[in-house]
Amino acid sequence: MNVLVTGGSGFIGSNLVRLLLAERPEWRIVNLDKLTYAGNAENLADLEGNPRYRFVRGDICNGELIADVFRTEKIHAVLHLAAESHVDRSILSPSIFIETNVRGTQVLLEAAREFGVRRFVHVSTDEVYGSLGPTGLFTEQTPLDPSSPYSASKASSDLLALAYAHTFKLPVVVTRCSNNYGPYQFPEKLIPLMIANALRDLPLPVYGDGMNVRDWIHVEDHGRGLLAALEKGEDGQVYNFGASSERHNIDIVKQVLRLVGKPESLIKYVTDRPGHDRRYAIDSTKARTQLGWAPRHGFEDALAATVRWYVERRQWWERIISGEYLKYYEKQYGGR
Ligand code: NAD
Ligand code: DAU
Repeated sequence: MNVLVTGGSGFIGSNLVRLLLAERPEWRIVNLDKLTYAGNAENLADLEGNPRYRFVRGDICNGELIADVFRTEKIHAVLHLAAESHVDRSILSPSIFIETNVRGTQVLLEAAREFGVRRFVHVSTDEVYGSLGPTGLFTEQTPLDPSSPYSASKASSDLLALAYAHTFKLPVVVTRCSNNYGPYQFPEKLIPLMIANALRDLPLPVYGDGMNVRDWIHVEDHGRGLLAALEKGEDGQVYNFGASSERHNIDIVKQVLRLVGKPESLIKYVTDRPGHDRRYAIDSTKARTQLGWAPRHGFEDALAATVRWYVERRQWWERIISGEYLKYYEKQYGGR
């Protein structure tokens, strides 16, 4: 089977490509990625020359290129991850989020329709459901209520994907996962940012009162969920993935500081994110019962392993946090 992974050079994509190659020896993986600031060819550099892997640098909004990839690679299934993924950047510059996440998704859906696929997995997020109060969980029935340009663009693309399933009978499955952590995450997101700053004795910027809650899942568990959705999902269905690991941001930050042996005096409370969702928490009963999926990683041990990865792979993230990243950091955190 030839599987197209879009966004395979990003955080979740690169972990997923490795998982697929290891778990499905008969599959060939085509990774299509634009290599934006968030994409990093280094993440999969060791796969060069592997006959079961091909990298294509390109934009999912480029219809001609996408058609060419479907035609020449004889794509049987799609795992669509390519996206602009950072909420803060969507508040600074929303337009590219609409272009990539909405229009890019539609270009891919159209190509899948034209060439025919056995499965199109549209990889989405729990953020499309908006914010929860102190109790309750997101189920697949929770109404969409996105808060940021990022989550609104993802919700739009979910609806497009489901419309293609409904109208054109395209075998679409939509997945909605909670906050991922693990190796290769770009250090603009909470956990790797806090690790990288702590290791350099820089302030750890905590938004608002630090009491916002996210529900954390290891990236490998998400990847296994995507594989299960591809193989066992039902056309037109939505599946939530989460590991029931709710944590307040401030507790995560303190845990990171403990793991790297740095003082809590590095914590700096800063102005809150505009429109900041208070709490996310996922009910993944449907994925557990219908896909036979369950997370394997416990949060405490997997966070410690993730911190170790960043300590040992300092070169990987130090190369990233130069150039464009420094400009972004100044814009996002300067004077906050
Ligand atoms: P990421 O930002 O690390 O990676 C995104 C990848 O997409 C990068 O490699 C980038 O180069 C590529 N890309 C961006 N625009 C492109 C375009 N126009 N054409 C081709 N490639 C393009 O993101 P991530 O955290 O790995 O997230 C991957 C997907 O999973 C996204 O769709 C995101 O919405 C979803 N998701 C993420 C999380 C999370 O916690 N990170 C949780 C749930 C869902
Ligand atoms: O829930 C899934 C989503 O999780 C994905 O769809 C997104 O792609 C992914 O980026 C993530 O979104 P969040 O906004 O939840 O993640 P982020 O790492 O940006 O922030 C996590 C929490 O930490 C959030 O409450 C904001 C807070 N935060 C974040 C940063 C970067 C801080 O307090 N300080 C920071 O510097």
